[in-house]
Amino acid sequence: MAHETFQTVEGQLNWNAPMFKLYEKAKKNGKWDPADIDFSQDQIDFQRMTEDERVTSLPLVASFSAGEEAVTVDILPMVHAMANQGRLEDTMFLTTFMFDEAKHTEMFSRWQKAIGVGEMDLSVFHSDSYKRIFYEALPESMNRLTTDDSPEAVIRAATVYNMVVEGILAESGYYSFRQIFKKANLLPGILMGIDYLNRDEGRHLQFGIYTIQRLIAGNEKNRLIFNDYMDELWPDAYGVIEYLTSLYDIQMAQDWTNSSLEFDSDAMREYAKKQFEIRKRQVNRAKNYSSAAELDERLVKSKDI
Ligand SMILES: [Fe+2]
Ligand SMILES: [Fe+2]
Repeated sequence: MAHETFQTVEGQLNWNAPMFKLYEKAKKNGKWDPADIDFSQDQIDFQRMTEDERVTSLPLVASFSAGEEAVTVDILPMVHAMANQGRLEDTMFLTTFMFDEAKHTEMFSRWQKAIGVGEMDLSVFHSDSYKRIFYEALPESMNRLTTDDSPEAVIRAATVYNMVVEGILAESGYYSFRQIFKKANLLPGILMGIDYLNRDEGRHLQFGIYTIQRLIAGNEKNRLIFNDYMDELWPDAYGVIEYLTSLYDIQMAQDWTNSSLEFDSDAMREYAKKQFEIRKRQVNRAKNYSSAAELDERLVKSKDI
């Protein structure tokens, strides 16, 4: 498709666009390098762990590694869709988004290499629910955007990518990782990496919330598309958490008295349920706006982004 015009030649960037603000934030707050993280203590900790204790970290890492790789390779259709729709500021923000995901993928791969499991096939820890979301729903919804960038297709892509994968699963994963390893004072390197990831993901979530909200503001049909897809994905999203926590329950049922690791599976499951409710509530706040323009206006005033 030929270009008919250029925004920055006819005029300028929209400095007040919510996604331009987020782009500015990403440039400032997204500065970190996975190669700078020291994993030497993690290596020592991992060596000292028992076989059972190691099994508590690997399923989580297996979920994160594949998840970050999936979101790195699956984001392009969203960038393409925003660019085609002339959403320049959104496209600019997404350039930082993709770089973030590449760094997240790098971080987990470096950790696996450092602790000596780089060659281990961790896909045995991917449950059927995990596969339905990361192997199927995510790439299917994202790839649809290459031929269909309708509001419905964009909402569904942002719902599975930003709300379910990032907003529910990644957030619950950080929580579990910190619950288990921060408390036990183990694996400081990967915990530091997770802090960086968490900050980046905050911006990614804001993109997702904004993108869905602007399409459902004043459009009840689109709002239902979002809510229905969230409900459709929830059993598998929760299935991912149930599988991981069931592994901990098995561990706890065994003789675990010599371990410094503690699990509260119920708290982890509750946390995931809470994330589901929070994400739905956040996006549905768009009910208060009659149009995307009104939402933009409110965001400019509120400094929420
Ligand atoms: Fe990520
Ligand atoms: Fe992300």
